[in-house]
Amino acid sequence: MSKIAVVFHSVCGNTYLMAKAYADYLKEKGEEVSLFRVKDEAFEETSLKFDSSRVYREEILKLPVISCGKDLTGYDALFLGSPTYYGCVSAQMKAFMDSFCDIWVEALMSGKYFGCFATSGDLYGGSELCMQGMNTFAQHMGMILLSVPCNIGGAPQPAYGITHATGPMSDQRMQDDTVKAIHGYLDYVLPAIHQK
Ligand SMILES: Cc1cc2nc3c(=O)[nH]c(=O)nc-3n(C[C@H](O)[C@H](O)[C@H](O)COP(=O)(O)O)c2cc1C
Repeated sequence: MSKIAVVFHSVCGNTYLMAKAYADYLKEKGEEVSLFRVKDEAFEETSLKFDSSRVYREEILKLPVISCGKDLTGYDALFLGSPTYYGCVSAQMKAFMDSFCDIWVEALMSGKYFGCFATSGDLYGGSELCMQGMNTFAQHMGMILLSVPCNIGGAPQPAYGITHATGPMSDQRMQDDTVKAIHGYLDYVLPAIHQK
């Protein structure tokens, strides 16, 4: 059994649903999993703005907030999920990644496993770039990237992580094919994480 953290930012609920699919499957596989949301001071207000953001608002609010990278040093692996904002991670996810500054020099995350996921409005709207940003962050931390192989099944995925396109109103929720891709990916990477 490994100790695994799934950390996400989400306003309209889509990245949250992916994070939950990761956490639920990892739990099903017997892992010790913590699901955290990053700090988002505007969430209470922004999550009331759209029909799509109201649906998972209360569920998201119930989850614990992780304040900084230091709180993850006791974990074997980290899965990070962000919405794509202008081809990058959201500002809230960037602020969380920046919070690792305290432990970067001491390399406290070095040698731990890392994977990421992202949602975007459009399939070609830059979610790969968003995930590349998270991969680059993990490289700076000395983490070991768990890229996505081409034979995991389900919806086709980029090598940088698992992604889902949510449509112009952010209301096209993840379907079974993306869940299948998440499960196939986790089945593929868990043996490596267990070797830690
Ligand atoms: C400020 C902002 C910038 C965005 N930029 C992009 C973008 O560059 N490409 C894209 O495909 N979608 C973009 N979107 C759409 C979001 O990526 C999409 O709705 C995502 O699924 C939201 O995730 P959530 O449901 O977890 O909040 C943007 C949304 C916002 C609010």
